[in-house]
Amino acid sequence: CGIVAYIGHRQAYPVILKGLKRLEYRGYDSAGVALVNHGLHVYKKKGKVADLEENLVGKNLQGTIGIGHTRWATHGEPSDRNSHPHTSTNGKLAMVHNGIIENYAPLKQELLNKGYTFSSDTDTEVLLKFIEDIQLNNECGLEEAVRIALRRIVGAYVIVIVDQDHPDTLIAARKGSPLVIGIGKGEHFLASDASPIVEYTKEVVYVNDYEVAIIRPDELILKNLGNERQTPFITKLDIELAAIEKGGYDHFMIKEIHEQPHTIQDCLRGRLDPAAGTITMAGVENHLQQLINAPRIIMVACGTSWHAGLVAEYVFEELCRIPVEVEYASEFRYRNPIIHKGDVIIAISQSGETADTLVAIDRAKEQGATIFGIVNAVGSSIARLSHAGAYTHAGPEIGVASTKAFTAQLAVLTMMALKVAAAKGTIDVKRYQHLCAELAAIPEKVALVLQKAADVKKIAARYKDARDFLYLGRGYNFPVALEGALKLKEISYIHAEGYPAAEMKHGPIALVDDQLPVVFVATKDSYHEKIVSNIQEIKARKGIVLAITSESDEVIPAMADDVFAVPEADEIVAPMLSVIPLQLLSYYVGVAKGFDVDKPRNLAKSVTVE
Ligand code: G6P
Repeated sequence: CGIVAYIGHRQAYPVILKGLKRLEYRGYDSAGVALVNHGLHVYKKKGKVADLEENLVGKNLQGTIGIGHTRWATHGEPSDRNSHPHTSTNGKLAMVHNGIIENYAPLKQELLNKGYTFSSDTDTEVLLKFIEDIQLNNECGLEEAVRIALRRIVGAYVIVIVDQDHPDTLIAARKGSPLVIGIGKGEHFLASDASPIVEYTKEVVYVNDYEVAIIRPDELILKNLGNERQTPFITKLDIELAAIEKGGYDHFMIKEIHEQPHTIQDCLRGRLDPAAGTITMAGVENHLQQLINAPRIIMVACGTSWHAGLVAEYVFEELCRIPVEVEYASEFRYRNPIIHKGDVIIAISQSGETADTLVAIDRAKEQGATIFGIVNAVGSSIARLSHAGAYTHAGPEIGVASTKAFTAQLAVLTMMALKVAAAKGTIDVKRYQHLCAELAAIPEKVALVLQKAADVKKIAARYKDARDFLYLGRGYNFPVALEGALKLKEISYIHAEGYPAAEMKHGPIALVDDQLPVVFVATKDSYHEKIVSNIQEIKARKGIVLAITSESDEVIPAMADDVFAVPEADEIVAPMLSVIPLQLLSYYVGVAKGFDVDKPRNLAKSVTVE
């Protein structure tokens, strides 16, 4: 979910509405606002922020203090009544919440026993009424009641509350989910990330876990749950407004796909110097001994970031000869994993806020592991929790399906592996220099691939009505096949399965008939002949083959129904090229089917619930 709030001298509603649109990537199944202006006014609606906006035309939207929310449903279906903000029984308080209150059921029972009634199915309403109850029983102020309540809460939350009796104060608190406060002149902006804030101020405070913020136009007070003052740590934002707008493209997703030559370059800039053969990464340098001596590296991530981890597994094992495991954060954290002394955890996350990844590394940290964060969002929770790390510098990614963050993750992980391999002596000088040069050439090659985007659009038009897709690859391209299938599922709602090309014989081959498109990610590598055989196996069963090949390949084009060629590259860096046509394919199929590619149904970009 996304949260925005404002207090100051401007009209709050336009600030909140614009902010919610920027945060829609966090969820978009309902939206709402609460404004205080001679009483509390709450408006909420199932659907996207634009639906809310349309619904509010002509309503009284005055007020210089307000809170807003765009939701990704957890407790309770998307509906008007489950939308936020929720209100207290006495109608004076309104609250927005991001996260999950895990112990909401017993709290709700307690309140039901006391005669409270509920107008939604949400955990949020339970928390607000719990706060209200404490306020009544203890005859204390809202701030005190919030602190008492939060001491009993299990789960993750960001909450922001307005009180019609105190129209000069917002109360907010955080545990687990992100909250940024922008500091203006006589005004404050609150949001789940900096994108709603950046056009007003660059000075921000990231609220820490277990902190309560008391915010007035001219004052920001932070306290811990024990009522002790905390010093707000003010940081300067380094994102520009242009980076979070569409800039002439139809969708954020296609803009972000086309940004990749620059974003990969930004990621390499100042780090990789292929002429000198040096890679400068302060985070890696400071922990070089630990990485060299690591008995094991565990990659922890979710979704697309997990696929980047899989590619990195192959790269690290090959170049650094360190055993690597790649874990879904959600599985890793719950199964009491074995962590040896010296193990290094590499957490990969675009947003830096994915709840499962965050908690997984927190647990591993408790067990003494060194955490290395590969994160895109600067200042995010995972970045701050890590012992060391490297930012991917891909810029804000707004499209829900991850694209440019993935290639930047691959670039960072490859540089990291090269650096460790060089220091460890597991790579010879010639190969090291060759790979540095290959990596440096990637942005230009990605630009060449993108010049042929229109070819993918044509292919997409031919395949858009398929019911299922199979994506196959071997070696470094196996995770790319998984990522291609995930992209298609996310954006076009076509069922797609990614599989290792050889393993296909042990099951998925049963699906092959003359209706099934099979996408082979088959750029030239050490397994090339093998994948050629796999293509034969599909063709022998009348499957339709779409192959991603290297430009010099003459064998596969003679066999495949459709081919898209990418420039030659060493197999270690090839995934950064072979994934591009797959990103484009999912985009063009999704657009051809008329779907909202930037906001696919049921998904959210940043999943801050477990
Ligand atoms: C969500 C997004 C995916 C993303 C995954 C992990 O599911 O829709 O695009 O890959 O979360 O997110 P992270 O921010 O941790 O990389």
